[in-house]
Amino acid sequence: MAILSEQSALIIIGITGDLSKRKLLPSLYNLEKANKLPENFKIIGTSRRDVDTEKLFEKLHEHITLTSDVYSEATFTKLKKRIIIIQADVSSHEGAHSLSAQLDGLLGKVCSMKLFYFAIPPSSLQPVIHNLVEAGVHSCGGNMASRLLIEKPFGRDLASAEDLSDTISKNFGSESIYLIDHYLAKETVQNILYMRFHNPLLQGIWNQRHVESIAVTAYEKLDIQGRGDFYEQTGALRDMLQSHLIQLLALVTMNEPVDMNAATIRDNRLHVLRHLQLATEPSITATRAQYKGYKIEVKNNTSSTETYASVNLLIDNDRWRNVPVTLSAGKAMNQKSTKIEVIFQSHEAHDEKNIFTFQIQPNEAISLTLAVKKPGLATETKTISLDYCYDEDAENPGFNDGYDRIIYDAINGDQTLFPSDAEIKNNWALLQPVLDEWQRSSSGLLTYEKGTNDIMEDK
Ligand code: BG6
Repeated sequence: MAILSEQSALIIIGITGDLSKRKLLPSLYNLEKANKLPENFKIIGTSRRDVDTEKLFEKLHEHITLTSDVYSEATFTKLKKRIIIIQADVSSHEGAHSLSAQLDGLLGKVCSMKLFYFAIPPSSLQPVIHNLVEAGVHSCGGNMASRLLIEKPFGRDLASAEDLSDTISKNFGSESIYLIDHYLAKETVQNILYMRFHNPLLQGIWNQRHVESIAVTAYEKLDIQGRGDFYEQTGALRDMLQSHLIQLLALVTMNEPVDMNAATIRDNRLHVLRHLQLATEPSITATRAQYKGYKIEVKNNTSSTETYASVNLLIDNDRWRNVPVTLSAGKAMNQKSTKIEVIFQSHEAHDEKNIFTFQIQPNEAISLTLAVKKPGLATETKTISLDYCYDEDAENPGFNDGYDRIIYDAINGDQTLFPSDAEIKNNWALLQPVLDEWQRSSSGLLTYEKGTNDIMEDK
């Protein structure tokens, strides 16, 4: 654990939002419990409104007691002592200056680290960063630079991501920028590289000679859960495919890194990402759909925002040429299931295929299906599955959630599990033709009943 001598702080811009309640604060509780927060580490939350701090703690307490396996009152009390809520509307110059003065009062003019977490809508990010820089909020004094933790989606298309990136890079070096994709921090996802490169058995078959197709799927049973404002600006393609699913694909298909350093891994991911192409035969193969009732939920009866998106890709390199890849994500589907399936070519004697699955939701697991002879006189085969489930590995409990790991790594300055700016821009460039086509017209928007996977034409 990093021991930082002077005051350091995580500054959550927008602490009253849904992300803070559901992910950030519970993760900070987990880190506190595991003794993984530095000594002099404050958690400072900003809110535009005057916040009743006791009410916020009550809600957090409710959430943590409901979701954690073993609740610790001592941990909760320790965490509460670190948290300070301040009122500052950083979308205005005055608000940013007020935050700057309040932070100086709390941390001193020289502090060892300011880690900013932007838990705000993507559209507010650029003006907020501009205001913070202009008011000098990011300055730590001395030599330490601030770090910025920025939620996905980074921009809403290639042009806006480039614009945002330009604004940020004028004031911050790449070593200060942590673009979040919490999927990369999940245990199973980190395991992809270890499984692939520590098992010679897999090395020889992980290519187009043996793999028939790859499918990366993220189905959720939950709908948009009242996050209409966010979702109307986003949709499934931007929310899940552009980030989580493409990054998962990169890990499954990248070449072996020479070492496990952040720079090498990011470079290798980028290298394969640069070979991704949209499958264009006979035309761009992308599908979008919206669940019934969505328009009423977001109070926009002309909305064409997709709650389901699917895109077919190819990887134009020797290892993967001609292996079709499908990425699909949807809300309000029939079940929660996020997984990467590497599907091998079938044996000539039977149709069933060997499938290697990295399962991420509803629980983290790995499985491989194999054909075995049915016991007894039969000469037929049946399919069995070899499974490893993380939840059952009590010997080596990992981090509870991707967000725990993200915050921990950002505090400790490790960027391995964060996509680089170049990766993000590459992903926008890849999907830009689909975004453009969907923007041009709403034709081709399919529909489905909530709780089903039956995508159909609207009638
Ligand atoms: C987030 C998306 O990044 O990931 C959400 O914005 C989605 O829409 C969530 O529900 C899924 O994450 P997890 O960890 O619950 O699978």
